[in-house]
Amino acid sequence: MLPSETAAQHKMQLREKPTVHVDGFLYSDEQVDSLCEEGAMSRNYCLSCGSFKTAPLDFISHSFSVSELQFLFQNVLPDLSGRTVVDVGSRLGAVLYGGYVYSSASRLIGLELSEDFVRLQNDILHKYRLADRIQVFHANVCTQQVLLQDTDVLIMNNVFEYFIEPSEQIGAWKFIMQTFRKRGSLLVTVPSLQESLDALQVPLPPGWVEELSVDYNVYLGRDTDPEYLRQIHLYRVF
Ligand SMILES: C[S@@+](CC[C@H](N)C(=O)[O-])C[C@H]1O[C@@H](n2cnc3c(N)ncnc32)[C@H](O)[C@@H]1O
Repeated sequence: MLPSETAAQHKMQLREKPTVHVDGFLYSDEQVDSLCEEGAMSRNYCLSCGSFKTAPLDFISHSFSVSELQFLFQNVLPDLSGRTVVDVGSRLGAVLYGGYVYSSASRLIGLELSEDFVRLQNDILHKYRLADRIQVFHANVCTQQVLLQDTDVLIMNNVFEYFIEPSEQIGAWKFIMQTFRKRGSLLVTVPSLQESLDALQVPLPPGWVEELSVDYNVYLGRDTDPEYLRQIHLYRVF
């Protein structure tokens, strides 16, 4: 996380159990295990200092891991040839790089509020020559009406909860529900739409989207936690 992400750091401190952020795109579970074995980090926290009374820490990632990206593009979404994918809140760019490698999408567009993360993503696009299919914009999704009206696949991985205030979250969801309306286009959310909207007491507009079934019983190696995959939901715009 960036030092400038004070609101998100604060939100994490408000969680019920002590929580650490380990970015799932940058560190696999195996790497975290090695760091724990070396003593560089811990999966537990002390309940009563100096004793053996410890409890597991909660871990949170603000990015999809590589195996989640592989699952998303190879098992959840259809062939994306000729399609435009938009990742709302593209952060490190994980979804964009995953889409570049694991799909045939023609355009992969990232929208990101943080200027520092936009700079980082543009450095990566330049360094690894990915700019032929990927573009990143420093923009609030709520300013992107024209783009959203023409988007085929919209990806929203827990975009708002830690990063903007509830009143702004409500405004952003309403904007998306009014704007992302192209018939047959796909929406991927983590967690489910129901869970995100219920928390904000925003009703899901009837007739906007239908949920499509996803086969979660795919083996992607022992590093993949099926519980994380089950958080990925797919919808189609009516
Ligand atoms: C959980 S991260 C998503 C990371 C990435 N999409 C992935 O799956 O790996 C959420 C990101 O959304 C950004 N964000 C939050 N609200 C936004 C908004 N209204 N418009 C654009 N970006 C936003 C935050 O700055 C943060 O970097």
